[in-house]
Amino acid sequence: MSSRCVILVGMMGAGKSQVGRLLAENLGYDFVDTDALIVKRAGKSVPRIFSEDGEEAFRALERDVIAELARRQSLVIATGGGALLDEANRRVLSALGHTVYLKASPRELYLRVKNDKNRPLLNVPDPQGELRRLLDARAPLYEKCDIVVDTEEIGTDEVVDLLIDELAKRTIETQME
Ligand code: S3P
Repeated sequence: MSSRCVILVGMMGAGKSQVGRLLAENLGYDFVDTDALIVKRAGKSVPRIFSEDGEEAFRALERDVIAELARRQSLVIATGGGALLDEANRRVLSALGHTVYLKASPRELYLRVKNDKNRPLLNVPDPQGELRRLLDARAPLYEKCDIVVDTEEIGTDEVVDLLIDELAKRTIETQME
């Protein structure tokens, strides 16, 4: 496997952190979660950053932590669902390595996150409708990833196995070029 990073993107509930941790273990890479880096830097939780400082402040922190990952190698990176909205983030992340979209429907995403209080954007009367609205706006960006995996009906282990195969194929192709 080459030392290029693997960058996981997709909506809240897509499984980026779970898949990322297991994939990193399998590849012998370190795992980084951009939300965790933001929380560490801000010294408070994501919901508190949103409620006390606002979404813009959260996005600025997100941009900073992603910029600092530039040129790193051998990492699996789980990004927050909104990371690709920012053009600078898109540039840094796509230069770092293989971008992977973990895809699922709003209904499935809702089932996965409905008991989780850590998503301030879903603190609204109709969270499933909000997931649909956000996904409609973001899907064109997500779909541009190098690899798209439909996670709707498969578990974490299977997603990781698929990714290991796909990444190995790409590494062999790169070596043959
Ligand atoms: C967000 C997703 C969250 C977190 C923040 C905003 C989004 O991360 O970055 O609440 O805009 O979709 P996860 O995708 O890991 O839940």
